[in-house]
Amino acid sequence: MRRITPRRLAPACLAVATVFAMAGAFAQTAQPAPAAPGGKIKVGFMLPYTGTYAALGTAIENGFRMYVQQQGGKLGGREIEYFKVDDESDPAKAPENATKLVKRDQVDVVVGTVHSGVQMGIVKVAKENNTLLIIPNAGVDEATGPLCGPNIFRTSFSNWQPGYAMGQVLAERGLKKVVTLTWKYAAGEQSVKGFKEAFEAKGGKVVKELSLPFPNVEFQALITEVASLKPDAVFVFFAGGGAVKFVKDWAAAGLKDKIPLYGSGFLTDGTLEAQGNAAQGLETTLHYADGLSNARDKNFRLDYAKTFKLQPDVYAVQGYDAAQLLAAGATAVKGDMTRKADLYKAMGSAKIDSPRGAFTLSKAHNPVQDFYLRKVDGRENKVSSVAVKALADPARGCRL
Ligand code: PHB
Repeated sequence: MRRITPRRLAPACLAVATVFAMAGAFAQTAQPAPAAPGGKIKVGFMLPYTGTYAALGTAIENGFRMYVQQQGGKLGGREIEYFKVDDESDPAKAPENATKLVKRDQVDVVVGTVHSGVQMGIVKVAKENNTLLIIPNAGVDEATGPLCGPNIFRTSFSNWQPGYAMGQVLAERGLKKVVTLTWKYAAGEQSVKGFKEAFEAKGGKVVKELSLPFPNVEFQALITEVASLKPDAVFVFFAGGGAVKFVKDWAAAGLKDKIPLYGSGFLTDGTLEAQGNAAQGLETTLHYADGLSNARDKNFRLDYAKTFKLQPDVYAVQGYDAAQLLAAGATAVKGDMTRKADLYKAMGSAKIDSPRGAFTLSKAHNPVQDFYLRKVDGRENKVSSVAVKALADPARGCRL
């Protein structure tokens, strides 16, 4: 055996180092470079394009793109380039999917997502990489609670908010005994928690909390159980395709005129066409409604209907506002997305002229906004009143 002397080792090391250097150079040319000032701003949509939340993801993307189009295709003086990942509302795939956008595509901002469980994975990746994240739907309380961060923003709601608003409404109506029913994951559980907090503070009682795994739609046994409990009312969280099925099953079981059904507004938003008669008269609470008489909303709805041949819903509004929030930041830094401190500061103090009504962000970067009481009439969630004005999520555990 030949002894390895330093002199023999040196050329070998050089060869290995050369190979690594070449590999590095290749990796750099093979990967897209980070957005250069003057180049396009890279926006990464991580949204559900399949499954029970597919329509929600599309509405968010539509709303976002529409705002950018209205600005002539540019924010902060720079054109926008889009990247897309279908997150399938699958929390297990979330870290890998988010990493694709952040590391492979090197986006300047991730816009996502809908599902609270998937959101946890995105938040983790965004925090690790100090990547700007705008959440255009998922309400997971942690994102603007214990996991809040300077780079994490939300243009939708916290799960606590719409539930809390409905808890207050039902308590004020003098209802005493309520059963809750939802999918067993953060969105449903936290929305029930918000409901319970407000409802029980004013003398109501949640007598039973029922649930089934997401995205199951075998509601029959649970509907029978609710009926047997004879509550004053039932409060639910369902959304998308699952909400369509639940509202129809509830009516088909003959309970529509027997036990009052209430929910956060996702139960009837973007779903009325498919729910038809089964949804008529349902009351819900949400940060958007049909029939808000502000000019911003009127123009937004006209443009949306013209562009997409569809009526907008809350998801489209949240996507539109995600683009508005990004615009506020991009304008402040004149398109230089590497000026992160200035970017975040401008976004945090932005006032968003939303179709829902103007809103600002809390210190934890969650909208402080009015919650409307709405009632289904035909194909509309008609606004009845403001249930809670300027409701701020308590942001428990957020230190910013
Ligand atoms: C969520 O998972 O946070 C979620 C999903 C759909 C909604 C609302 C919240 O409509």
